[in-house]
Amino acid sequence: MNYHIFTLFPEMIEQGLNTSIIGRAIEKGIIDLNLINIREFSTNKHKKVDDYPYGGGAGMVMQPEPIYNAYKSVMDTKVEKKTRLIYLTPQGKVFNQKMAEEFSKEESLMFLCGHYEGVDERVLETIVTDYVSIGDYVLTGGELAVMVLIDAISRLIPGVLSNNDSADYESFQDGLLEYPQYTRPYDFMGKTVPDVLISGHHANITKWRKEQSLSRTLERRPDLINKAHLTEEEKKYLKN
Ligand code: ADE
Repeated sequence: MNYHIFTLFPEMIEQGLNTSIIGRAIEKGIIDLNLINIREFSTNKHKKVDDYPYGGGAGMVMQPEPIYNAYKSVMDTKVEKKTRLIYLTPQGKVFNQKMAEEFSKEESLMFLCGHYEGVDERVLETIVTDYVSIGDYVLTGGELAVMVLIDAISRLIPGVLSNNDSADYESFQDGLLEYPQYTRPYDFMGKTVPDVLISGHHANITKWRKEQSLSRTLERRPDLINKAHLTEEEKKYLKN
């Protein structure tokens, strides 16, 4: 997977993603990060990239030309015509696991991080294919949001998670929350590990985990239950 990211703060994304599992995937060559500093595509002698909004109002607006020039340089040399360009904005569709799965099937993706009060609408109309938000709150820029997307997308790409990491791969795939996990010690401050987990009875363990997933989802995220793909047995459990 090749990620091309247009940003005014490439160092922020570089630092954020070059560690842990995603850092290892970059090292292994499974994913590639191409960070493009929009400022380098300013034709202004002071490398200016923003200006006052037409019609007045607070804040500055990112100008269209540097963004378009940066985009053009990548389109001309690095990607196929049909490559999607995702603009991170609170005005977008709220990101979820299904979107992560869909994006993970692409060969390459482009991302645009906005800043200041916004981006000139004309360049967005020209280059953006997908408007994506990471939640109903406003960040100072798209950089943290793009890191969230890249993390969630990358862990679905074969080879990114080792067998060790992928133990929880199924979590959320069925639309439910993960069951609780325990490790050593057996007794922590008087709280012991549930008996079923040390019983060695695999069918019982699977059943217990499923029930825990269901009751936890019902308690913490009841909004997910209706959307989850439940088996008849699971539906029966919920009725009790
Ligand atoms: N940029 C600013 N706020 C954002 C949000 N909630 N999601 C995505 N990009 C953003």
